[in-house]
Amino acid sequence: MTDIKTFGLLPKPKSLRRKPGAGFELSADTNVMSCALAKTAVKLFAANVLQIGIKVEIKKVVGKTAKAIVFARAVGFNDEGYSIDVSSRKILVQATKAAGFFYAAQTLTQLLQPGACGVIIPPVSIKDQPRFIWRGLMLDCCRHFFAMAELKKIIDTMASLKLNVFHWHLTEDQAWRLEIKKYPELTAKAAWRDNSGFGMADGVTPHYQDGKYGGFYTQADAREIVSYAAERFVTIVPEIELPGHSTAPLCVYNELGCTGGPYEFESMGGVFREVYCAGNDKVFEFLRDVLDEVLAIFPSQYIHIGGDECPKDRWRECPKCQNRIAAEGLKDEDELQSWFVRQIEQHLNKHNRNLIGWDEILEGGLAPNATVMSWRGNAGGIAAANMGHDVVMTPTTNCYLDYVQGRNATEPKAIPGGFLPLEKVYELEPVPRQIKPAQRKHVIGGQANMWTEYVQTDDHLEYMIFPRLCALAEVVWSPKTGRNWEDFRKRLAIEGKRLRTRGVNYRSPD
Ligand code: ACM
Ligand code: ZN
Repeated sequence: MTDIKTFGLLPKPKSLRRKPGAGFELSADTNVMSCALAKTAVKLFAANVLQIGIKVEIKKVVGKTAKAIVFARAVGFNDEGYSIDVSSRKILVQATKAAGFFYAAQTLTQLLQPGACGVIIPPVSIKDQPRFIWRGLMLDCCRHFFAMAELKKIIDTMASLKLNVFHWHLTEDQAWRLEIKKYPELTAKAAWRDNSGFGMADGVTPHYQDGKYGGFYTQADAREIVSYAAERFVTIVPEIELPGHSTAPLCVYNELGCTGGPYEFESMGGVFREVYCAGNDKVFEFLRDVLDEVLAIFPSQYIHIGGDECPKDRWRECPKCQNRIAAEGLKDEDELQSWFVRQIEQHLNKHNRNLIGWDEILEGGLAPNATVMSWRGNAGGIAAANMGHDVVMTPTTNCYLDYVQGRNATEPKAIPGGFLPLEKVYELEPVPRQIKPAQRKHVIGGQANMWTEYVQTDDHLEYMIFPRLCALAEVVWSPKTGRNWEDFRKRLAIEGKRLRTRGVNYRSPD
């Protein structure tokens, strides 16, 4: 069953050498020695082996001759790099930073093999580090709402695949999901709509209250997710959409739109004309207030501000917006959007945070320090990187998990028109050759996006995410040269068993 070359490791490590001799037999008398930096990693490893019935002893020191797993700090690894050396009496795990130890523990857990009389870790020498620092998944919690336990399950599984960014899509035309203390109506009203929408059978979906569909995360909830993720070396990057995809907040604060309303909640997908008024100073006061609360909750270096799909119809007709164009000497509405985003970037930069947005933020001129998330293919990422901006690659062609995975009529609901089989995710190359060699360092990673218009239940969500996220995980972690589809498929069969043990619903590859 086990692939002797890679032991089912997924993502595949940078280098793995099988050593001669016997492996390390794990038993109740196995000592684990942990340096201070490896505490989280060792806790994880001990919990994982406890699940298979083995309780290891964690100690500060062990005798030189004792049979032990030793986590010891060493210099020379990058922030997430590590090495593991297994022999029959000792496993030496080395890293320079806590994240490295954590990923080593994930690898060790995947290496556990059933042995003749217990559990064996095979004799290997591994040296590993990720190809990219941004290894992400975006989850849209607005079109459909997902409870805390489901978010934690997804984050946990991401961490097991060595992914490290959970991009949390929190505001939309259809709902606002994050409690903002200064504007309580956002969640009192804008988190609830009359039906679940998108052609879903109401009452089948969970999350109804007083006849309305929805839900929201309190600030305490969001902090809980931040710290749960941090323990797993996952950063939560919150997304507060602007200037478009903002019908829900306009429904409760009518004065923030160009027309003054009234507005109606959207419960279908699409791109909608009602957007924040770029000529009204109150809009920026509102957004700065919201972002100040967001910054206090989320320590992430990056704050995602959306920026995609903002129709300019209202701005063209709005005297306030036209005044702004004149007063700021802007050429047109594209430049007005760019000006809008720059105001937000200045605020974020003032607080030592970086703005990241979808590739439309290139239109009308990119904000000076912005990072671009390229979703409409690679073009936005190529342009931004060549201009010296950092980019995260998430092209629809390889990264959109709301697309159907197979041609079979039994596939569950998915967004019409898309098709993304597993193999296509595995084919993603985050660094297009059109980026000049000197600028390729600006590609900081890749991400899969899970829009949830058509996702009704937790099971359905997991089915759409897995195993395609496993393919993405390998693309963003493993060296490009080591990637091999057939080999990946073999290891995925083993990963499938691990997913099943976690209780994760996934699509069995064809
Ligand atoms: C997007 O898919 N609208 C970023
Ligand atoms: Zn306006």
